[in-house]
Amino acid sequence: MVTGKWISVILLLQLCNAGSGFCGKVLVWPCDMSHWLNIKIILEKLTERGHEVTVLVSPNSFIIDYSKPSTLNFEVIPMPQDGEAAANILNDFLDLAANVMPTLSRWQAARKMQEYIFQLTGYFKIMCESVVYNQSIMKKLRDTNYHVMVIDPVVPCGELIAELLQVPFVHTLRFFMGGTVEKYCGKLPAPPSYVPAVMGGLPDRMTFLERVNNMMLSIFFDFWLQPYDSHFWDRFYSEALGRPTTLCETMGKAEIWLMRTYWDFEFPRPYLPNFEFVGGLHCKPAKPLPKEMEEFVQSSGEHGVVVFSLGSMVKNLTEEKANLIASALAQIPQKVLWRYKGKKPTTLGANTQLYDWIPQNDLLGHPKAKAFITHGGTNGIYEAIYHGVPMVGVPMFADQPDNIAHMKAKGAAVEVNINTMTSADLLNALKTVINEPSYKENAMRLSRIHHDQPVKPLDRAVFWIEFVMRHKGAKHLRPAAHNLTWFQYHSLDVIGFLLACVATAIFLVTKCCLFSCRKFGKTGKKKKRE
Ligand SMILES: *[C@@H]1O[C@H](CO)[C@@H](O)[C@H](O)[C@H]1NC(C)=O
Ligand SMILES: *[C@@H]1O[C@H](CO)[C@@H](O)[C@H](O)[C@H]1NC(C)=O
Ligand SMILES: *[C@@H]1O[C@H](CO)[C@@H](O)[C@H](O)[C@H]1NC(C)=O
Repeated sequence: MVTGKWISVILLLQLCNAGSGFCGKVLVWPCDMSHWLNIKIILEKLTERGHEVTVLVSPNSFIIDYSKPSTLNFEVIPMPQDGEAAANILNDFLDLAANVMPTLSRWQAARKMQEYIFQLTGYFKIMCESVVYNQSIMKKLRDTNYHVMVIDPVVPCGELIAELLQVPFVHTLRFFMGGTVEKYCGKLPAPPSYVPAVMGGLPDRMTFLERVNNMMLSIFFDFWLQPYDSHFWDRFYSEALGRPTTLCETMGKAEIWLMRTYWDFEFPRPYLPNFEFVGGLHCKPAKPLPKEMEEFVQSSGEHGVVVFSLGSMVKNLTEEKANLIASALAQIPQKVLWRYKGKKPTTLGANTQLYDWIPQNDLLGHPKAKAFITHGGTNGIYEAIYHGVPMVGVPMFADQPDNIAHMKAKGAAVEVNINTMTSADLLNALKTVINEPSYKENAMRLSRIHHDQPVKPLDRAVFWIEFVMRHKGAKHLRPAAHNLTWFQYHSLDVIGFLLACVATAIFLVTKCCLFSCRKFGKTGKKKKRE
């Protein structure tokens, strides 16, 4: 027993020495649901490399299971254990996502999302106060001397804790509400002429009218739609830090931004040296399927299978919608594996099997996978890119419409509107991606781009987190834009100054001309008189 323990300690030490040459302490401010699945992969890799990882977790978490034994340490936030309030929040969201969002236009949906996030502010405030205003937990965190914090900025507070503890931090995100967080707080340039506004659903090559639309969307996201209740958080951060600051300014202190996309997904765009695009870091080769599932998949013969999941958030649809979907699925020659927890639709065909849960990555990586019907979550899209499977997108909320728009523009997906679709629409979309070879070819092209990278996305993410630990930050990558006001950033002061110079010059020249003309005029007249 004892020797075993010692051997593992020695191994661990060696790993630290041989690996990064440094064993660090990492504090994590995560976000629940699918975001956690993504960040967990990074954290597990960090522990594998000998770092000590501690996750600050709410006692009301849904999928962050802090009671299970794990290589990660969990520090449960000492907040009131109000599981009911938390469950209500989630249920409201599920209802919003499955039943309300799809019936709204994009703009209305964005507004609705903002309303929902504002409602959450009170809950997040309690969570944040339970950490930053609890002397005993802050002392414990301070005494641990963390080397870096890894933060999912969707829930505010992480960067505030990092500032209070004076620990450098790394952000990990896909984007947040219209991309304003990375654009304004991270200073990521986004010229509206060829960088489509996030959530706008536009491609990068835009016609004049699309550019008008994109400009309007950018303005809308810049001025009307806020990802956070910033009035509230600006005040909260200023009070906690004891100096005037804003949420955005504090977020802008991130040393590195790990973005959950890559050039297989993104349109080419300008980026900054402290932005690292690590999309698909959770992807891995497929494992064999459970025996029964494998038999079902094999029974599809040469037609292959369709994988169908609306993600972990949407459990059931209205009966009408479920029937409509099931009847479309019943008409294709492929077998369908549908992850669905609701009541069994009456129109369910013999070719369709319902599952509470599916090993999505293993199914998409199966040679018989022909198409993927998806709500368009980033994790699922990346699994499809990784394995080169064309998609039918039924996006609902958040980043999903945007993800599907990218895949559509790259020719690897067809979009169906979950709200207005008929059985025939879904059927046609499925037939298109399965039977038209261009979709498979494009999906395979994206897959090749994804696999052919100098360093794997997970290794790059880990490298930069370790870099920040080793060097106590990455200040050499930080653009000076953070120290400029908005009019300095756009050089409006310089342009104004130069215009003033030109105006003065023109004024002086005209004045001189007029003066000398008058003088010449007078002398001319004088001469005449003489
Ligand atoms: C502060 O945190 C500790 C755990 O670190 C907890 O025991 C204590 O109840 C908390 N205090 C308050 C006022 O919530
Ligand atoms: C989903 O299921 C829950 C119970 O599991 C039910 O209360 C709710 O009404 C269902 N929603 C829809 C849209 O069918
Ligand atoms: C930028 O501003 C920060 C504080 O806001 C300051 O510490 C830093 O020295 C400034 N950097 C430059 C180059 O002026």
